[in-house]
Amino acid sequence: MNAVDLADFDAVKRALGLNDEAEVWRAGWAASQGSYAREGERFLDAATLEDACRFLRMAPDLKAALAEHRTVFDKVPALKRLAWHCRALFFRRADMGYPPPASWPPLPPTLGDAAHLFYAYVVLAGVRALQAEHHLKGVPDEITVETLRDIERWMEDYRARHGVYGFDKVRWLELHFTCRLFQLGRLQFEMRTWAFDFTFLRDRFTQRVVAMCPDGARFRRDGQWDGADGVRDPQASSAQYRPGHKIIRGNPVRPDGVALTEVVSLPTVEWEPMLKRGDRTLGVHIPEGERLTPEACTDAFEHAEGFFAMYFPDHDYKAFETDSWLLDCQHAAYLPESSNIVRFQQRFYVLPGPDADDEQLLDRVFFGKFKDVDTAPRDTALQRHIVAHMRQGGRWRTALGVIFPEDLGRGPHYYRDCAAGTPWQCPA
Ligand SMILES: CC(C)(COP(=O)(O)OP(=O)(O)OC[C@H]1O[C@@H](n2cnc3c(N)ncnc32)[C@H](O)[C@@H]1OP(=O)(O)O)[C@@H](O)C(=O)NCCC(=O)NCCS
Repeated sequence: MNAVDLADFDAVKRALGLNDEAEVWRAGWAASQGSYAREGERFLDAATLEDACRFLRMAPDLKAALAEHRTVFDKVPALKRLAWHCRALFFRRADMGYPPPASWPPLPPTLGDAAHLFYAYVVLAGVRALQAEHHLKGVPDEITVETLRDIERWMEDYRARHGVYGFDKVRWLELHFTCRLFQLGRLQFEMRTWAFDFTFLRDRFTQRVVAMCPDGARFRRDGQWDGADGVRDPQASSAQYRPGHKIIRGNPVRPDGVALTEVVSLPTVEWEPMLKRGDRTLGVHIPEGERLTPEACTDAFEHAEGFFAMYFPDHDYKAFETDSWLLDCQHAAYLPESSNIVRFQQRFYVLPGPDADDEQLLDRVFFGKFKDVDTAPRDTALQRHIVAHMRQGGRWRTALGVIFPEDLGRGPHYYRDCAAGTPWQCPA
């Protein structure tokens, strides 16, 4: 291994037994290896790793696993140089223009347990730099640590799925390391933009809100996108949205996520648009962890309002939005009213998701262990009703949800309450 010419990408590729998926790393190899001589001295040494783990208050087991497998980088310089290369891409990708982590392959198992943890080492190498960047913006350490708890969370998740510690969420962590995502209390918030053509309207006088379907989008008779869950409806119909000088005509969406076939006409003088494609939003993510109590969610939204106003005032977001299996309102038919999932759904104006399917639900509820309804675990009420629904031919899916910050204080199910008596009211 010592004889490997580390400046030669082909030699490194051969030495590590990488296949052609590794070609994504060819570009920029010379540049990153050139910087190793200048800056790589302490990269992946025991003290630097220990420092990052201590700052993140990592659990002793995880720290021990990382420390144990780190030694492979001392023995296999080619692997260390590949990690250095990934670090260079990950933390300077914007200037270097190299392929994003989404295209990075897993490392071959022949490299031992360190292969599972390879990307954890890459991201951990940037912890102190992120802390410094957060300091420049005034973000306190407490929030940096909470935000980066995702490294530990996903290492634990990997172990639950594969039996050994590992980390395969390098792409997801890009959001954290580019200061686009923060964990604030129970929820994570991501600065992003609204990427859909649903239009939200607010009644200027009563503050009621309605979402209108995208013009021309096709919906099935059950109010879901034609093609959602791979199911097409020969009697699907095209929705319309026609904002005129006097009247806005269109198909509304019920706040529990069902597009309606009935067209409504709303006076333009009364209803004003409030969210359009490209507007800034705060994406809401729900990390695994403690129960999703309404109190914890309220605190998190309030925290987010204060946090982004203070540290990112330029991100003048119009709404909170999410896209999750948790918003499939079919769960409400099975779970009690007191369920946190049900109460979480009721906060949002829920919309049918284009390309929605059950992949995320099956992954997050059965932890990658779902094969079929007969063998699926049935330990919790949720798992049991998911299986029962599927046995009856039902399908699950993700859904979109929106909350406007000005509505946060208007009650725990404001969008459903204010739809009462309108053509888009939810069934009792
Ligand atoms: C979000 C989360 C904390 C909600 O859990 P919660 O607060 O317990 O929710 P509820 O009160 O509605 O739970 C109702 C029932 O469903 C069960 N349940 C909830 N989430 C579950 C999950 N992910 N897997 C299996 N069962 C789950 C609960 O244990 C409870 O069943 P029980 O009465 O038999 O104990 C939980 O689903 C979770 O940690 N999910 C992982 C993260 C995730 O999926 N994020 C969304 C990705 S976009």
